[in-house]
Amino acid sequence: MKSESIKITVLEAAEIEKVLKIQMECNLTSWNYIDYLKAIQNDELVTLVAKTKKDINGFIVARLIINKDFNPILLKQKSSEKLGQTSYSPENEAEIYSFGIAKKYQNKGIGKQLFSKFKEMAKKNEIDLIWLEVRKSNINAIEFYKKNNFSQSYQRKNYYNNPTEDGIVMKLVL
Ligand SMILES: CC(C)(COP(=O)(O)OP(=O)(O)OC[C@H]1O[C@@H](n2cnc3c(N)ncnc32)[C@H](O)[C@@H]1OP(=O)(O)O)[C@@H](O)C(=O)NCCC(=O)NCCS
Repeated sequence: MKSESIKITVLEAAEIEKVLKIQMECNLTSWNYIDYLKAIQNDELVTLVAKTKKDINGFIVARLIINKDFNPILLKQKSSEKLGQTSYSPENEAEIYSFGIAKKYQNKGIGKQLFSKFKEMAKKNEIDLIWLEVRKSNINAIEFYKKNNFSQSYQRKNYYNNPTEDGIVMKLVL
């Protein structure tokens, strides 16, 4: 498949059924139809799909956590000593909740394009850090994220159920 034939757009209600199929096929944490419908209406959530004219190839859902109290100009005016004492993180963060490409379209560069589009949106929203969590055994996804400049941050013991497994928390500094 030629990469220029892929379009990346915001998820629409009519596309949810197809996303549910991909989610199931990829064995991802299951959201239902209503969850996606609510996600479309939620300004904090970014839901993108990769598609050709005929088919939906994959999707990504992420939350943008914008620190509205953060005022960089005000902070710059404070002394570095005071800055060191601040008890909250001034960073705007994003967390990838779900990300999947339909099996028949995997390893064709679509995930990379979809993630790049999401990263572009994150940057426009002044996001500094992107977080995600992945099963320790999901070597394909871990390799994909490493290729997209994520690094392993820490491991959560027995974070996942069915089957029980450690979670790897990865982050990307933008
Ligand atoms: C992980 C996933 C989203 C990646 O999407 P994709 O479209 O298959 O990946 P791409 O084809 O865009 O791959 C991009 C890069 O990752 C690399 N990559 C992909 N799979 C890989 C693997 N198994 N091992 C090593 N590298 C891999 C590719 O080589 C490519 O690198 P390149 O551009 O240097 O050639 C997709 O495989 C998927 O949906 N997996 C199942 C669901 C899942 O695990 N989601 C993540 C849960 S946290």
